[in-house]
Amino acid sequence: MGYYDLKKLENTGEDKTALEKKHVPYIQCPDKVKKGEYFEVTVTFGKEITHPMGPDHYIQYFDLYADYASLARVDFTPDMKAEATLTLKLEESCDLNVYAFCNLHGHWEGSKSIEVVE
Ligand SMILES: [Fe+2]
Repeated sequence: MGYYDLKKLENTGEDKTALEKKHVPYIQCPDKVKKGEYFEVTVTFGKEITHPMGPDHYIQYFDLYADYASLARVDFTPDMKAEATLTLKLEESCDLNVYAFCNLHGHWEGSKSIEVVE
């Protein structure tokens, strides 16, 4: 596992690795939203196991993109819970992509498609 590798969930079944379970960004938001209307997106790490947050091992930050457009960066310290809820609006359907960085386990990617309707 290289430090600069971008890792993402290859298998959504039951046989995820322990690292995948606590690192792959989990994006919670509606599947469908109205164009230009605010909605909430909550990002956690991961889904089955909560990533530890301590001085020696923690999620340092994540970046949120709508397709290739940067929307936000959230920085964490070890005293925080690795979770954030952001409020945003979209003009067209896209993939919400989250790129996160764990100080020990490197970069991780999570993605969720969202449909924007009139
Ligand atoms: Fe980690």
